[in-house]
Amino acid sequence: SLNQQYEEKVRPCIDLIDSLRSLGVEKDLALPAIAVIGDQSSGKSSVLEALSGVALPRGSGIVTRCPLELKMKKITKGQKWNGKIHYRDFAEEIQEPANVEQNICQAQDKMAGVGVGISDELISLEIASPNVPDLTLIDLPGITRVAVKGQPANIGEQIKKLIWKFIGKQETINLVVVPCNVDIATTEALKMAQEVDPEGERTLGILTKPDLVDKGTEETVVDIINNKAIPLKKGYMIVRCRGQKEITKKVSLTTALEKERNFFQEHSHFQTLYYDGHASVPKLAEKLTLELVHHIQKSLPHLEEQIETKLKQTQSKLDNLGCGPPSEPSEKLGFLIDKVTSFTQDAVYLSKGEDLRCGY
Ligand code: GDP
Ligand code: NA
Ligand code: MG
Repeated sequence: SLNQQYEEKVRPCIDLIDSLRSLGVEKDLALPAIAVIGDQSSGKSSVLEALSGVALPRGSGIVTRCPLELKMKKITKGQKWNGKIHYRDFAEEIQEPANVEQNICQAQDKMAGVGVGISDELISLEIASPNVPDLTLIDLPGITRVAVKGQPANIGEQIKKLIWKFIGKQETINLVVVPCNVDIATTEALKMAQEVDPEGERTLGILTKPDLVDKGTEETVVDIINNKAIPLKKGYMIVRCRGQKEITKKVSLTTALEKERNFFQEHSHFQTLYYDGHASVPKLAEKLTLELVHHIQKSLPHLEEQIETKLKQTQSKLDNLGCGPPSEPSEKLGFLIDKVTSFTQDAVYLSKGEDLRCGY
């Protein structure tokens, strides 16, 4: 069954990567991850919000101003929701889903300043809940062309540089978010993804705002989702999230999922996409989890190679350092003299413009 397949294959892979991440391996090696990119207001944060079940800062203008790593961990039914936010040297437990948004806004204000600036420092948010998929996703500031008041003139370039940093890595799956009422072929996000991944091996398209599709263009959208327009190996998905009106009316995320299901089931053009498994947030969660696991399995041999190389380098550095101080008091003076001699020799090499040779 799907559940059993999940327990046996999905969980161990994601746990392995998570534990490598928590050991700090990411400082030396890139670990498999999923990054979300798109134009400003294309619906990136809304998709993450729908997947995670917690409200994130979202709306018009630049709202996501730092990369946000959203680590979701599925726990068993009955266990209690818990959240944790982490940035720089700061870490704090979050008691309730309702407090997440405020915590992120505070973090962004600290890292990027109050206002409309951006920063490339990562905010990490961990959420454990029975209702989330096992996924780690990175939300990024939206692509923008024109600076608004208070932003430096080169804000567009700054944001693109930040996005490059994440999507350029071979280990990252790139989710390109494009609204249905925009011509996908001309979107900057897809262009950027195609530049770093010309074969489309690690790019997945997500179409948003299907309720705002221009009348008469529905079949174009259907063709895109069926991979007939701009083919990507990982294909496309379509989701419907809360619009501004629904947020104002405080429609809950759970109700939004029901509305999404009804929307697709009743839509004369999009219902086949729904029944084919290409539409809705729950289907997207399923697809992303499987893609991530597949990607992890593919990355593991390369990761192992990198770890072995790193280990060899570190071991030889360590060997070069020799043994630590002896415990025998009578040997201590000799040890110290050796160290001082090596140090003096290195000082001579250095003064001749040569490299250091003696470990100590
Ligand atoms: P981001 O800037 O890419 O992170 O975009 P946001 O997630 O902040 O969304 C921008 C705006 O689009 C918000 O007002 C959302 O409510 C709205 N929005 C997102 N998804 C949908 C959707 O499926 N339908 C409609 N009508 N509006 C949506
Ligand atoms: Na926005
Ligand atoms: Mg956003």
